[in-house]
Amino acid sequence: MPEILVLYYSRNGATRALARQICRGIESVPQMQARLRTVPPVSADTDQKIAAVPDEGAPFVDKQDLRDCAGLILGSPTRFGNMAAPLKYFLDSTSDLWLSGSLSGKPAAVFTSTSSQHGGQESTLLTMMLPLLHHGMLLVGVPYTEPRLSATETGGTPYGASHVAGTGAPRALSRDEAELAIVLGRRVAEIASKLQSQSAQ
Ligand SMILES: Cc1cc2nc3c(=O)[nH]c(=O)nc-3n(C[C@H](O)[C@H](O)[C@H](O)COP(=O)(O)O)c2cc1C
Repeated sequence: MPEILVLYYSRNGATRALARQICRGIESVPQMQARLRTVPPVSADTDQKIAAVPDEGAPFVDKQDLRDCAGLILGSPTRFGNMAAPLKYFLDSTSDLWLSGSLSGKPAAVFTSTSSQHGGQESTLLTMMLPLLHHGMLLVGVPYTEPRLSATETGGTPYGASHVAGTGAPRALSRDEAELAIVLGRRVAEIASKLQSQSAQ
């Protein structure tokens, strides 16, 4: 069954909560499956040793996951208005896939979480799109035909799914944030499904 790779980094769980809703959206599309993967943390000490398998949660991504996927949805917490280093570090290792065009023509989308409402969600989402464009991917957003996009008072943007996590105790996804994340997952899966059936003809 074709799979959409949901690849995220999350230190405190907010971005992971969005990833789970995106997977629900993907799996609401007949014959489409989600593959959830994460990346290891990085540190200034590049000799840092990490377990090959994380203690809990999604497995670490492998470049074969990118070759295999029918679409890719990339998520990161916002760090100073940009994606977090662990995700960027992994993406910087993908030049062989760029050379071979492994991701070219596949649909892609992005998601993020911030602590504050105006803390840079859109800059993070837009800059996360750049490596995907270099890979030749087809970017998918959330259309304004989704009424929640105009109504939301928390996260959820036309550029991708998002969550405003707050600064205190972890805030659960709002209904709008969760539903818009589901919409994004479903949209990428539907487009991937159509592209796959066209290429099979
Ligand atoms: C180094 C660093 C930089 C951050 N920069 C921002 C920022 O620019 N804007 C913002 O609103 N939140 C910022 N945050 C907060 C995180 O984006 C926020 O807590 C997010 O929900 C964490 O996601 P996670 O639970 O998936 O790790 C930053 C956090 C860290 C550690």
